[in-house]
Amino acid sequence: MTQTKRIVLSSDHAAIDLRRAVADHIAAKGWDVVDIGPTTIESTHYPLHGKAAAEKVASGDCALGIILCGTGQGIMMAANKVPGIRCGVCSDTFSAEMIRQHNDANMLSIGARVVGEGLALKIVDAFLDATFEGGRHATRVGMIEGAGV
Ligand code: RB5
Repeated sequence: MTQTKRIVLSSDHAAIDLRRAVADHIAAKGWDVVDIGPTTIESTHYPLHGKAAAEKVASGDCALGIILCGTGQGIMMAANKVPGIRCGVCSDTFSAEMIRQHNDANMLSIGARVVGEGLALKIVDAFLDATFEGGRHATRVGMIEGAGV
């Protein structure tokens, strides 16, 4: 069963400080944060961390995930290779809200070299506070998930 207030975080070396700020922020909002690292700033490979976080969401261990790298792009691409994952990169709050309302995104990616901490936390809030609208959007999400186009 998917845990409703349990969220996984991961990043590569480019986003460790921002990931920690996000972890503190969402823990203060009452989320059970599963931060799977990494913990050191040694250069690492973002696909490993994107995949590991995505697997926690796809398995139902976590309801949502937030992943970060320098641009947010590479780690997002890796996460989206895991079946059942719908992850978008956001640098603005409108997109962060809409990827949940319309696309039923279960993961958010942020670029630590793109947005500052203040905006990143607002993006996180917009993502977490939005809910999927269903209806015609459910049809379209079903098509992403293989229901046919
Ligand atoms: C690491 O230098 C950088 O390539 C990575 O953080 C990310 O931006 C890749 O998409």
